[in-house]
Amino acid sequence: MAGKSNWLALYILAIIAGVHGADILGLFTSLSPSHLVIQMSMARILAERGHNVTVVTALKPPFLHKDINHILVPLEKEDLQAFSSVVGGLSKTDNSNAYTSMFRSMRQISEAFSKMGTVMKHQVVRDLYEHPDNRFDLVIVGYFMNSFQLALGYKLKVPIVVALSNPPAFLGDVLGNPWEVSYVPAMHLGTDSGSPMGIGKRALNILGNLGQRLFMFAIEYGNAKTYREIYGDDPALPSYGDLNKNISLIFFASHGISEGPIRPNLPAVIEVGGIQVKDRPDPLPKSMADFLSEAPHGAILLSLGSNLKIDHLKPDTVQKMFNVISSLKQKVIWKWDDLENTPGTSENILYSKWLPQDDVLAHPNITLFITHAGKGGVTEAQYHGKPMLALPVFGDQPSNADVMERQGFGLKQSLLNLEEDTFLGGIQEVLENPKYATRVRSFSALYRDRPLSAQQTFIYWVEYVIRHRGAPHLQSPVVHMNYIEVNNLDIYALVLVATASIYFIVKLVIGLLSKALKSKTLKKSQVNHKNKLKMK
Ligand SMILES: *[C@@H]1O[C@H](CO)[C@@H](O)[C@H](O)[C@H]1NC(C)=O
Ligand SMILES: *[C@@H]1O[C@H](CO)[C@@H](O)[C@H](O)[C@H]1NC(C)=O
Ligand SMILES: *[C@@H]1O[C@H](CO)[C@@H](O)[C@H](O)[C@H]1NC(C)=O
Repeated sequence: MAGKSNWLALYILAIIAGVHGADILGLFTSLSPSHLVIQMSMARILAERGHNVTVVTALKPPFLHKDINHILVPLEKEDLQAFSSVVGGLSKTDNSNAYTSMFRSMRQISEAFSKMGTVMKHQVVRDLYEHPDNRFDLVIVGYFMNSFQLALGYKLKVPIVVALSNPPAFLGDVLGNPWEVSYVPAMHLGTDSGSPMGIGKRALNILGNLGQRLFMFAIEYGNAKTYREIYGDDPALPSYGDLNKNISLIFFASHGISEGPIRPNLPAVIEVGGIQVKDRPDPLPKSMADFLSEAPHGAILLSLGSNLKIDHLKPDTVQKMFNVISSLKQKVIWKWDDLENTPGTSENILYSKWLPQDDVLAHPNITLFITHAGKGGVTEAQYHGKPMLALPVFGDQPSNADVMERQGFGLKQSLLNLEEDTFLGGIQEVLENPKYATRVRSFSALYRDRPLSAQQTFIYWVEYVIRHRGAPHLQSPVVHMNYIEVNNLDIYALVLVATASIYFIVKLVIGLLSKALKSKTLKKSQVNHKNKLKMK
């Protein structure tokens, strides 16, 4: 018995070990920096796990890792610019005008996406499958409306998994994930999670979903054209419409249980929301740890991101911020790029150029995060249960701040019109009114309570696909059915035709019968009449 279980343990170990050191290709050519953060975190996690990870990007990644082989596709400046302006507009997904602006710039967007075709045509990408020394066990495609990237999986003849930076509503379709418009609100609707939608919201939801489908249809039309241009001469590749039919599973950057909406998901829908946050924080640099170790009134982290250069800020605004911050009894770590030129010195302020933001937010003495509301920072603060005062400026920051405020995790103020008294009032409100900390902490507790952490989940499922050389057994039959079959429209049509036929047949028979009956009684009465006459 013991021998058997030992053998089993060894066998399991062998299987798991067999997956170690797999050759994994990350195709992350999306031209959106915020997506790249999540995708590069995935690459880092796999590299730290001991896999041989090769990553192809079109943008300079936000960070690299010594064990990741990185290939940068050199793009023309104009291509990059055309795209980033479009992405900038698109990333305002929470904006209720997002749909209208999406459609207004449809042609521009479509053109920008076709630019991603240039990436696939590039020799460094072709080398991946043309060079005989390259071999891979799995391709991870970072999806951003660029399905033609999937062709690489077919070229290399390896299983494909897809990584997405959205909740399952988006692209779940290609796996056959249910799209329940009556109770799953689209991203832009912002209903309270778990409460049913009224008739107005449901109508809007249907319209929103139709809009999204229409948008995708237009994008895919352009993508199919790009795909034919690049790979049209290769008979071994499937048609564009069939590319999606061999995806093993999709990773979504969401956690429905805590974030909502509650919705049905297929087994191949894997949620890894928060994957960019470390399971366990690294120790802080000594100066920071010392600074935070004595904070009887708590401490504040103030970071306005790395894109917002000092010269974007009016000197006047910086001075006002300093006046308020230096008057606080809390300690403050202030991310500041130019240590030669600080806004002023104060005992309670520690300026730092480089900042392990995730690790600092994890520190128990941090009680407030003053942030520009970049997606990454907000996610980290939510993960660690820290209330926020958001000072958004551009891009997706205002909408991130709106969502954060609506969730009750803190307040939002304008950085450009910052005044000392309102700034101080905001800080005091979030610090002293316990409702913000309570809300974000209870969210954090739900967000982190999972059978496996986001990173463990990700590793498990990546290695699962490698172990079984793809996961066709996970696939929903819906992938291979058309719209009519999925919705049983053929059966309804059949039932309708059958019912109609029966109705008409019955009607005909009754008609004939009653006719026959009538003529019979008529004859009878005539005979009777005659008989009566005879009798007389
Ligand atoms: C990692 O993968 C790349 C791409 O296939 C390959 O060139 C390289 O030799 C691999 N490295 C190791 C250590 O196996
Ligand atoms: C799907 O991918 C697997 C490898 O994971 C391959 O064996 C299979 O032929 C592919 N199926 C299609 C329809 O291309
Ligand atoms: C937080 O601050 C308190 C009060 O100064 C101190 O006793 C505690 O050790 C600090 N916590 C950490 C983890 O440094």
